[in-house]
Amino acid sequence: MINELKLAVLVSGRGSNLQAIINKIEAGKLPAKIELVISDQPEAKALQRAKKHGLEDHIVQREAFADQGTFEKKIFELLKEKNIELIVLAGFMRILSPNFIKNYPAKIINIHPSLLPAFPGLNAQKQAVDYGVKYSGCTVHFVNQEVDSGPIISQRVVPVKVNDTPASLSERILKEEHKLLPEIIKIIAEDRIEIKGRKVFIK
Ligand code: GRF
Repeated sequence: MINELKLAVLVSGRGSNLQAIINKIEAGKLPAKIELVISDQPEAKALQRAKKHGLEDHIVQREAFADQGTFEKKIFELLKEKNIELIVLAGFMRILSPNFIKNYPAKIINIHPSLLPAFPGLNAQKQAVDYGVKYSGCTVHFVNQEVDSGPIISQRVVPVKVNDTPASLSERILKEEHKLLPEIIKIIAEDRIEIKGRKVFIK
């Protein structure tokens, strides 16, 4: 029996990347199991997707806690309870503190809709359109203590067309996100990643 990587997927919204992971697992193409879906937004569409596929979901709202520390402690307890091996930030709109991140060295990954280090932070696709770059794309990276700046695992490039709006570019990038994220999770599940400083090697 293949060892399935135990995943927690953290979300805040639509959950299309969560869906892409679910689809690969259900198709038998990704040796992983989503043990937990955690959303900080009670209305996130991602929660409906989790329910539809029989996944355990939790709403952990920052507002329900006195401070960031107790909010993160709740998340930490859920992760611990399930012996989570990889935390996937898939459209999770909260910044995790260095204190939280240090518990999971090279065990948290994020997907970002630009070619980092270009256009970190919010509205990356709009930043790319406004800047006038000819290519953009998406990045999967390990999460370190600074926003969108951990070691890059892999990227996919898409062209930016002259008539692109942030919405049309987002759509083109999203198609690549849906392929890249499950692909990287698979590589991690197969233990084929080596990190040397900022550099990530896929064996
Ligand atoms: C994606 O564009 C992802 O790159 C960014 O947030 C968006 C989440 O989309 N971090 P979804 O919720 O997975 O549909």
